[in-house]
Amino acid sequence: MHSIFKQLADDHINISYVMIVLAKHASQWQNIDDIRSDLDFIQDSLHYLSDYPQLCHHPIEEQLFDYIEEKKLCDPTMFSELRAEHKELETITNNIKEQFQAFSDDQKMGGFEELKQSTVSFIRSQQEHVKNEDTLILPEIDRAMSEEHWREFTTNLNFETDPVFGGIQCEKISQLLRSIIKRK
Ligand SMILES: [Fe+2]
Ligand SMILES: [Fe+2]
Repeated sequence: MHSIFKQLADDHINISYVMIVLAKHASQWQNIDDIRSDLDFIQDSLHYLSDYPQLCHHPIEEQLFDYIEEKKLCDPTMFSELRAEHKELETITNNIKEQFQAFSDDQKMGGFEELKQSTVSFIRSQQEHVKNEDTLILPEIDRAMSEEHWREFTTNLNFETDPVFGGIQCEKISQLLRSIIKRK
């Protein structure tokens, strides 16, 4: 298994793990005070779930989709839905981050039910996307990409955003993951 493929699969495990932990926290919120006292954890989780995919994970996936399409290694229509989902997920994630930021700044933007509902539907959207990729897309990519393809893809990869080769920003966000796991 190529290291980039493994990194994408591992990213899904980490992202899913943070979502499970966040879902567990959300299931225990009974009122607005529960949310207030959980705010540090919620905001760190949302920070990870927005920045890691947007800065480190989606850019690699999308460069890989481009490469596979260019080489005609898979059905060319299979990635268009995922690209749209990336955009949609980024909007949903940015919105929920703003909602909790406004709450933290005491500007309200929704009461208890709204914050809890936004969290639950945000988690559902993220989980559906990861499940879709894990069950349908990653196996296709694994099947389509030969060692030679991976070599060529890696040579042309934009290293700035590549967690495998140590993008500094990605490393910082991975530290945040470790701190979230400690506070689960
Ligand atoms: Fe994705
Ligand atoms: Fe993904």
